[in-house]
Amino acid sequence: MTPARYPEHPAPEPYSQFDPQEYLEEYYAQLSEENVFLLDFYHEIYGRLPAGLSVLELGGGPTIYQLLSASRCAREIVFTDFLEVNRREIQRWLEGAPGVFDWGQYIQRVAGLEKDLDVDALAARLRACIQRVGPCDLTRKNPLDPDVQTGFDVVSSAFCLEAVTQDPEDFIGFLRRISALLKPGGSLVAVLVRDSDAYKVGRHFFPACPLNEATLAAALQGNGYRHVRIQTVETSRLHGYTGIMAVVAEKE
Ligand SMILES: C[S@@+](CC[C@H](N)C(=O)[O-])C[C@H]1O[C@@H](n2cnc3c(N)ncnc32)[C@H](O)[C@@H]1O
Repeated sequence: MTPARYPEHPAPEPYSQFDPQEYLEEYYAQLSEENVFLLDFYHEIYGRLPAGLSVLELGGGPTIYQLLSASRCAREIVFTDFLEVNRREIQRWLEGAPGVFDWGQYIQRVAGLEKDLDVDALAARLRACIQRVGPCDLTRKNPLDPDVQTGFDVVSSAFCLEAVTQDPEDFIGFLRRISALLKPGGSLVAVLVRDSDAYKVGRHFFPACPLNEATLAAALQGNGYRHVRIQTVETSRLHGYTGIMAVVAEKE
């Protein structure tokens, strides 16, 4: 399938141009239909996994919505991102710093899904799970370098695996590196944009690897994963993609 291009977008820029506030404003200011899809997906997936999991959040950016449901069954969450500015935003949320991005409507939605759990209890549960915030770089052989922890039960990654490169070969390398961080039978829980070569944040564009359901499933199945399940929500093309794919796959 031909990637859907944002009309005449400029070349993707390096991540040094990524502004967490601009990104949060553009994608998360509203609890849109797409964001509800994401929260419902995570609620369903983590509702089926057992308790006591070690979870690695890879490329978590400045966001925490993707871990609200994970905190239901996580014993620990190691939160990582490539950029210091994003890691600082997460630290600020953990500390409840003044003026930090307000995830209230997301927390409320997930609390409702969990039979009206108290919203403060849900936020506290996630804060208690995130024990470490550190760097990651998918272009390194060990993306967690210098950390050497492996054998995670779950690797979670939201809009990151496809957002580092436009090259499908690099993308496959990332899947292999992630597999090395999982224990056998562990789960990759990821969301990715469909049919894109760049996504928009304000005036900037950042790279995207062109993928669709078929190429994503083939890449996973050919690189050490099984039981691949993908759900998609269609989106407007305004940000440079045609849909969001939510995938769960098991390491062989
Ligand atoms: C589209 S954002 C995703 C943010 C967040 N996970 C979300 O759900 O909105 C892409 C993320 O990829 C991260 N990233 C960029 N280069 C990376 C690399 N080489 N290795 C790992 N992550 C990288 C960025 O710092 C950014 O947080």
